[in-house]
Amino acid sequence: MAQIIAEVSRTFNEFLLLPNRTRTDCSPATVGLSTPLVRHVVGQQPAIELGSPFTSAIMQAVSTPELAIALARNGGLSFLHHNQSIQDQAAAVRQVKNFKAGFVTSDTNVRPDDSLCHLVAVMQRTGHSTAVVTHDGTAAGRLLGLVTSRDFHPQRHDLDGPVSSRMTAIADLPHASADTTLSEANARLWDQRLDCLPVLDTEGHLQYLVFRSDYADNKRFPNQAVDPAKRLRVGAGINTHDYQERVPALLEAGADALCFDSSDGYSDWQAQALTWVKKHYPEIPTGGGNVVDGEAFTFLAEAGADFVKVGVGGGSICITRDQKGIGRGQASAVLDVAAARDAFRDRTGEYVPICSDGGLVHDYHVAVALAMGADFVMMGRYFARFDQAAGAKLPTRDGFVKEYWGEGSNRARNWQRYGQGAQGLIFEEGVDGYVPYAGDLNEGLALTIAKLKTTMVSCGSATLPEFQSTARLTLVSDQSFQESHANVTLRDAPATIA
Ligand code: IMP
Repeated sequence: MAQIIAEVSRTFNEFLLLPNRTRTDCSPATVGLSTPLVRHVVGQQPAIELGSPFTSAIMQAVSTPELAIALARNGGLSFLHHNQSIQDQAAAVRQVKNFKAGFVTSDTNVRPDDSLCHLVAVMQRTGHSTAVVTHDGTAAGRLLGLVTSRDFHPQRHDLDGPVSSRMTAIADLPHASADTTLSEANARLWDQRLDCLPVLDTEGHLQYLVFRSDYADNKRFPNQAVDPAKRLRVGAGINTHDYQERVPALLEAGADALCFDSSDGYSDWQAQALTWVKKHYPEIPTGGGNVVDGEAFTFLAEAGADFVKVGVGGGSICITRDQKGIGRGQASAVLDVAAARDAFRDRTGEYVPICSDGGLVHDYHVAVALAMGADFVMMGRYFARFDQAAGAKLPTRDGFVKEYWGEGSNRARNWQRYGQGAQGLIFEEGVDGYVPYAGDLNEGLALTIAKLKTTMVSCGSATLPEFQSTARLTLVSDQSFQESHANVTLRDAPATIA
């Protein structure tokens, strides 16, 4: 006979955190958000730690290289999606790994004999007012000079004349060698009152530009997720079908962590694939999932998973529960898996972090998920709203929206994620829609982090492990849930008379 689990399946909306005593040494400025990403021996440092507990979903609509760069600069990690060719995914990984904060690859490039008229057209196309002049007009050519919009005026200079007539030639141009660090480059920009410092290799070919205008931006991110070579970290999704070809290509490209991406990770296929990766590439941390209970967590932890993702059916674009009747309320799932993780730790001495994936609708849900034992969260809808995500930004009557579609929708048709027994989707498990546009990731995430820190302060926790071990949560009734919201007519909303 089927087993009925007596406990009701609950979600984050049904819980609130109780404030704990706040010590005087616990303030938003002192709260730390670092968290382990991967399996480690208790008491030892994990091979990868995140500066903030946020990862972006393994989805076409979400995790672009641009988003991965922005998120890693804020201490989190993106998992670039695998619903693309191995070559394209590896190229996306490379794009993130090659990013050097503050070192910009020039996109406004001309030859010395190009006309000023051509230069104006290039500047208009890129929107940038500093152009490099190289022997072949490329970003990696031998640098001959620099020309900015301040060096010529259409009414004063013959626009048919060559760029070389108005450029500052290399002989008069301060430049730096390839081993220059960002702080050395910044010091020169300020000491020599430069706007731009070109960085050249030993042959005189251009590598990067460093701009004075980016100085404040580079100071903004003290908490970046970087590897030992100071390159931003990036993760990549993999599947149980082509992993034997995909994993080596992603490793070669420089991926820092991998994660099997499946709507139901409690399977022999995932255990076999994990075992294969651990045998052939033991150096690369590899996560598994998704699961919703302790039994499935232990299965994947024993198969070698370095972290386990939790969540089936809770995603904002997800219709798996409607279609297949599979899933579990996200709060119940996290609580059950966290208990199994702790039992596994006590039994083996190894800590396998867990990730709460999907269904985080309000910022405070992040705090609730972490308090319940998640080591980090993964979000799709949240990140899809930002400029850096893949979806198009579209105008509506009330403002702007961004496109957001599920991996199980007809638009993505990610059959490798859904075990429907065919090489293709038989039926949809996700929808294709829109989310409200939310601007720049850096600003949006800063706000979410500020809220998380103040919640932790109210709960008297200076670190995430402390938060997990001391948080007190209460279930809310329908009536007390109503009480959570503002109960007046809002100043900027039209008054409605009941
Ligand atoms: P969200 O943060 O609530 O939008 O949920 C994102 C998560 O939903 C992802 O990380 C996946 O685990 C899951 N997901 C992505 N695409 C689909 C889909 O098409 N159907 C069901 N779940 C999905």
